[in-house]
Amino acid sequence: MKISSVSVIGAGTMGSGIAQVFAQGELDVALIDVEASYLDRGMTTIAKSLDRLVRKEVLSSGNKDKVLSRIHTSTDLNEAKGSGIVIEAVFENEGVKTELWKQVDGIVGEDSILATNTSSISVTRLGANVTRPERFIGMHFMNPVAVMELVEVIRGLETNDETTKATLELCEKLGKTPVEVNDYPGFVSNRVLLPMINEAVYCLMEGVASRESIDTVMKLGMAHPMGPLALADLIGVDVCLDIMEVLHRDLGDSKYRPCPLLKKMVAAGRLGRKSGRGFYEYG
Ligand code: 3HC
Repeated sequence: MKISSVSVIGAGTMGSGIAQVFAQGELDVALIDVEASYLDRGMTTIAKSLDRLVRKEVLSSGNKDKVLSRIHTSTDLNEAKGSGIVIEAVFENEGVKTELWKQVDGIVGEDSILATNTSSISVTRLGANVTRPERFIGMHFMNPVAVMELVEVIRGLETNDETTKATLELCEKLGKTPVEVNDYPGFVSNRVLLPMINEAVYCLMEGVASRESIDTVMKLGMAHPMGPLALADLIGVDVCLDIMEVLHRDLGDSKYRPCPLLKKMVAAGRLGRKSGRGFYEYG
């Protein structure tokens, strides 16, 4: 199955990174979101990321322009018509994703692969909203998408072998390393990572150590590239809470209860890098 065109729905942190990586892989990308201002912000993020790659001489400045020229933006969902693959990267909210997939289902061709970048929500449940759940799959990219090698590929209960094979091959074409996992809450990545982040937040709430000390312990002691609290700021404190709530609800074990401080931070709008303030300040 040759895929030459992609639609990415959602121009936030993950969606813009995914659009960039596909454009760097020489595919034509339609980046779709509900408002032009979200698309402008997404394109600015992509340009900044490409500038970092140019500074590192990973990309020539000429190639930066070619990559950008492969991405066109639209607020019209019908732009997804004709795409070989549609990747959804909208809010980590099952209701929002469900409504969107019902709309996309009526637009795309029967051969299109339908992929969700969900962090933790059941791929099988989301896939139940489309006419061909055998074409539905999870493509879980890692933040920052431009740099992180992994794509966690999640088979829903109905996902067929052809869709899985084409998705794995596409990830490799992008220079990523796909790892196939089955559809359970949080998959592997967030089932393991987010409880660690949640415990770091409990350490902060209970006064076990300062935010800097908690992060330093994990960086120097476990060779993590960044501490769990700084990582929560990168991921989005709200996204971390959403994931913990999915784990708690869908696995039904109290060990996944979100830390009260995590809830309080989100309630106060301290969402991390994207809001300028989370566990740390960004200015
Ligand atoms: N675009 C291009 N290059 C980037 C980049 C971006 N957005 N962000 C970082 N880089 C590059 C920098 O250019 C730099 O390259 P160099 O070392 O060759 O000069 C390198 O990455 C390191 O960047 P910095 O020194 O500026 O350090 P940062 O503070 O930017 O962070 C990091 C770098 C790559 C984020 C590193 O700290 C890291 O790997 N952190 C862990 C990230 C992680 O765990 N991600 C997974 C989270 S879980 C997830 O995403 C799943 C979701 O469902 C929640």
